[in-house]
Amino acid sequence: MVVEKNVPLQPCNTFGIVARAHTLVRVRSVEDLHAVLADAQLAPLPKLVLGGGSNIVLTGDVRPVVLKMEIKGLRLVEATDRAWIVEAGAGEVWHDTVAWTLAQGFAGLENLALIPGTVGAAPVQNIGAYGVELQDRFESLDAVDLATGQCFTLDAAQCAFGYRDSVFKHAPSPSPAEGGLPRGMGLAGRAVITHVRFRLPRPWKPVLGYLDLERRRAEAGVDQPTAQQIFEWVCDIRRAKLPDPAVIGNAGSFFKNPTVTPEQCADIIARDPKIVHYPMPDGSIKLAAGWLIDACGWKGKSVGKAGVYEKQALVLVNRGQGASSVTGGEVMTLARAIQTSVYERFGIRLEPEPVVW
Ligand code: EPU
Repeated sequence: MVVEKNVPLQPCNTFGIVARAHTLVRVRSVEDLHAVLADAQLAPLPKLVLGGGSNIVLTGDVRPVVLKMEIKGLRLVEATDRAWIVEAGAGEVWHDTVAWTLAQGFAGLENLALIPGTVGAAPVQNIGAYGVELQDRFESLDAVDLATGQCFTLDAAQCAFGYRDSVFKHAPSPSPAEGGLPRGMGLAGRAVITHVRFRLPRPWKPVLGYLDLERRRAEAGVDQPTAQQIFEWVCDIRRAKLPDPAVIGNAGSFFKNPTVTPEQCADIIARDPKIVHYPMPDGSIKLAAGWLIDACGWKGKSVGKAGVYEKQALVLVNRGQGASSVTGGEVMTLARAIQTSVYERFGIRLEPEPVVW
């Protein structure tokens, strides 16, 4: 277990916000986690689990012990006629994991290429892009209960996946049932994901329905693309419209796409016929938050050093650099101003996607 004091967190969050961790532990194995929990000083302190820092806004220095997840390892666990089961350590870089699976011939994660962050963070918000969500390729995960030190495994149902949501985003219920982790119980701040297993179905079938991907397929004149081609198209599409966190600090989509009732949607269409909307299987309508923010005139605007990306209004960016970076406070001031104008114009409350700490 490596314990560091007064650690700069700017390199550990993709927004590039300046903040410090009073205490940071590099967790490279499950044993490291057990060592933290056996340590008389560290054990009783609150903890913050940090993966790639791609979904967090730091609004100040972090007093809880930061558990920086660096558990590595990629392996094929099982091969059947129906699926490849692949396991990755929570500290593996997500995109590298996708690339590794494809290089091994295990297709299925290609639509999720180039999403920033680590493997351990992927189930927390059920990452998704271009028609595929993590839950569609999920087998199970291993985690450690920070309260008891117990290791446990959860399947997809137990993770309670939803749109950018899971059991890991909800606070624990006040009186957990004895001896186990009942389904639906919140695990935020309580469980640390150590390994994730993916189920990659065989035979592989491409997922193409998303408009941007269909356009690329038509341009390429390919009827039956390979997983590698889809991977490359997804990378191209993302590079064209999303900022690279290594160049411009950001945390991906800043708000979730809201859902409304058909009546609410009809009401908005009557006023704004061009609104981008998608009917969902449950009868609700999903609206494109990026479109709503764009329609309010925010694209390219800034408040202090927090900006709205020029090519995708759903992404807030850091317009500062180095020591004069954006602060978490500036990001949240901009976020609140956007929420207010979208609410005033459309009557819709946008919900932030990243964790605000
Ligand atoms: N749009 C605008 N103006 C904008 C941005 C978007 O009019 O400034 C319109 C687009 O023209 C399009 C629609 O809004 O018609 C949707 O835009 P896009 O295809 O870029 O997707 P999104 O709904 O904004 C979601 C995910 C992304 C994911 C893409 C592709 C959420 C919150 N975001 O974005 O995920 O990559 O779909 O599947 O669901 C992330 O979560 O960090 C993320 C990047």
